[in-house]
Amino acid sequence: MEKPYSPCFLCNQSRRTQPARQFLYNQIPRVKGLLTLDVGCGTGVITPELATYTSHATAIGIDIDSTILAKAINRNKSTNLHFLLADATALPFRANLFTFALSHFTLMWIPKRMKALSETFRILCSKGILAAIEPDYSGRIEARNSSPKQGLPPQSSLIKCLQNLGADPFSGSQLPADLSIVGFTNTRFGVLSWEFNKIGAHKEILGEAALLKTQGIQWDLPTFTFTPIFWVLASKP
Ligand SMILES: C[S@@+](CC[C@H](N)C(=O)[O-])C[C@H]1O[C@@H](n2cnc3c(N)ncnc32)[C@H](O)[C@@H]1O
Repeated sequence: MEKPYSPCFLCNQSRRTQPARQFLYNQIPRVKGLLTLDVGCGTGVITPELATYTSHATAIGIDIDSTILAKAINRNKSTNLHFLLADATALPFRANLFTFALSHFTLMWIPKRMKALSETFRILCSKGILAAIEPDYSGRIEARNSSPKQGLPPQSSLIKCLQNLGADPFSGSQLPADLSIVGFTNTRFGVLSWEFNKIGAHKEILGEAALLKTQGIQWDLPTFTFTPIFWVLASKP
């Protein structure tokens, strides 16, 4: 089934979460010779960041979708960036290799999320860090002029639509517990905050309406929405 994220959508989304990623990168020890992994790198809009915090870092982006990966390869020509067609649930790397791994809006799209997490745990070296950024629609707010602000009912159109497309809309709040099950420790997590931008927020609502339309769902357009996005940091003992 075709996935709903266009290159333009991924670019806008990555812009919104940039300050949070900077915070996550600041937690990584600054040593030379880092090898970093972008799990589900998509169009590779974020992968270069994983190679820039030391002049000696090498970043590898992996993705299961060859069409989207081709965009990442075309976009990034630097010699310290590499891209590989690979499944996050069966990573083609030896154990204890990477210092840092990032998953940005990827885990929600992987039905075998625990397998992907245990694979990431395996390829990280001791003290290696996993950072993830994932939304959670259970705490989403939608406001309409006609009705008071309210959280989404569990069977909302948007939640059903994401589930139909193969996503887990509730991955964000689940991640800290999932990480400890596969063996990660020192888990820290929080929810992103940002300033609401009227034009950007309206564009996002129109994007969601378009997504729902692809599923034949008519939507009573909200005037305001908020989706909690979780950040999580954890390390391998
Ligand atoms: C919403 S996109 C996010 C892309 C990128 N991380 C970003 O933020 O721009 C989710 C990505 O996860 C990839 N993906 C889904 N399942 C995967 C799997 N099992 N292994 C690797 N990549 C996967 C998809 O192909 C897609 O590119």
